[in-house]
Amino acid sequence: MATEETYLDRVLTMEVGRCTEAAAVAASTMIGRGDKEGADEAAVSALRTAFNKLEMDGTVVIGEGERDEAPMLYIGEKVGTGQGPKIDIALDPLEGTTLTAKAMANALAVVAMAQGGTLLHSPDVYMDKIACGPGYPDGVIDLDAAIEDNIDALAKHKGVAASEITLCILDRDRHEPLITGARRMGARVFLIPDGDVAGVFHTTEASTGIDMYVGQGGAPEGVLAAAALRCVGGQMQGRLVFRNDDERGRAERAGIKDLDRKYSLSDLASGDVIFAATGVTNGTMLDGVKWEPGYVSTHTVVMRSKTGTVRYIRAQTRR
Ligand code: FBP
Repeated sequence: MATEETYLDRVLTMEVGRCTEAAAVAASTMIGRGDKEGADEAAVSALRTAFNKLEMDGTVVIGEGERDEAPMLYIGEKVGTGQGPKIDIALDPLEGTTLTAKAMANALAVVAMAQGGTLLHSPDVYMDKIACGPGYPDGVIDLDAAIEDNIDALAKHKGVAASEITLCILDRDRHEPLITGARRMGARVFLIPDGDVAGVFHTTEASTGIDMYVGQGGAPEGVLAAAALRCVGGQMQGRLVFRNDDERGRAERAGIKDLDRKYSLSDLASGDVIFAATGVTNGTMLDGVKWEPGYVSTHTVVMRSKTGTVRYIRAQTRR
């Protein structure tokens, strides 16, 4: 039997892409149908079926919610055959349920896998996040600094004026101060309707023109984004945000002691991690699922932190 390490390295890296493909194909049947719950359910069910074919003793550490609120892929659910190595799994079978329901860009099926205990067991609450791509000195951006200072620091190290810096921010009222501050500096703001895993990932690809991701989004999505950055480089910090006692209780049940902690990239995802995403709708990073006569085609990225290998896979499956 493969050891945990060789399995993660050699086998699972390719298998995990099959799983996100299955989730994306299932979700794609719901594109534009105005039913975000139905789209999510289709992706969840397909992902669970695909996971259960894998030889692993997998545990969902970031999933569809707590056991009493999610019938499948809930936090703590065991997946896989139970025979292989112990693997922690963070997943978002459909990152961008509304994007899918409205046939908008950048919906993804996303999974990260790591050796047991190396992904932050994040509760389903919000997280304040800041991220930038690779090539900057450590600490160039800081979650606790003013947006103006972060833009200044990035511009200085990039060797450009602040007006040449582009930020990606979720289009939400709560981000008005960030957006106003950035525009006051002359920076560009790329507003996204949803999907901040892709938003963070965009900072790592020069072709997107995005230098920094900032703002508050889902904490589980923060861990998934961190897993992706661990593979391709870049910096990220996050802090959990609690709106009430129920959310603080979720954190305590997840084993989080310091509720105010500022997490670094490697606090969010330490150890070796693999990350896969398949496009559901067309996006900046990946093409969406396409149904052609006789087959369905998918576009997937699979990455591994140990080697920094990034593989883009185009698959055609007979239907
Ligand atoms: P869904 O896939 O559940 O629709 O979430 C999409 C998303 O935009 C995430 O990418 C992001 O982290 C979160 O929702 C933001 O939450 P909110 O819509 O409450 O601001």
